[in-house]
Amino acid sequence: LIPVIAIDGPTASGKGTVAQLVAERLGYHYLDSGALYRLVGLASSKVGVSTASEPDLIPIAENLNVNFQGDRVFLAGEDVTDQIRQEEMGKRASEVAVHTGVRNALVSRQRAFRQKPGLVADGRDMASVIFTDAATKVFLTASAEARADRRYKQLIAKGFSANIQVLLQDLRERDARDANRSNSPLKAVEGAHHLDTTSMTIEEAVNQVLKWHQA
Ligand code: CDP
Repeated sequence: LIPVIAIDGPTASGKGTVAQLVAERLGYHYLDSGALYRLVGLASSKVGVSTASEPDLIPIAENLNVNFQGDRVFLAGEDVTDQIRQEEMGKRASEVAVHTGVRNALVSRQRAFRQKPGLVADGRDMASVIFTDAATKVFLTASAEARADRRYKQLIAKGFSANIQVLLQDLRERDARDANRSNSPLKAVEGAHHLDTTSMTIEEAVNQVLKWHQA
């Protein structure tokens, strides 16, 4: 069985950064499942499909022509790495993610990332739905203020403009949508290790996950 480390948690909790570093340290593959939802958000907006229209979103999710190359993401050959990181796409992602048909359409694509010698997968339902047999399950959180602050710094570093108050508001809305949707809502599964990173450095968080995985 190829080992999986599943890291789930709310928006801007640091999952992505921690997951990528853990993967690097172990020489494992990395799945950024949120990127797939962001890509459905982007691909649908390009063809003018509303995030409310599940029947139109399903074929888009099924037929996503996506290519991950290192830390770049290509959609139908176009480098969309920066486009999908914009807050607008995060919002669209969380809107398309409420649809069961969209989630189902992405299941096998996510499972295909499980390759030797192992996988670190980050998202909302990695432990609860996609990799229920993950060797290590981590539920990563941080206070809303810490998360808004991190997202602010991330966006500014990428050259985007951002406003902390707006981010905090958006983040709370996104948390509510993720936690309250009827299918695979965000929650910690039984047996998951809880990691509150509010006052932790990235390095500390990475080391903690590695310790759990190697125990
Ligand atoms: O970085 P951030 O946590 O804001 O976003 P992300 O991980 O890229 O995910 C964007 C959105 O996709 C989330 O707000 C979720 O609504 C949705 N998502 C999901 O439903 N299931 C996943 N496994 C990953 C993301």
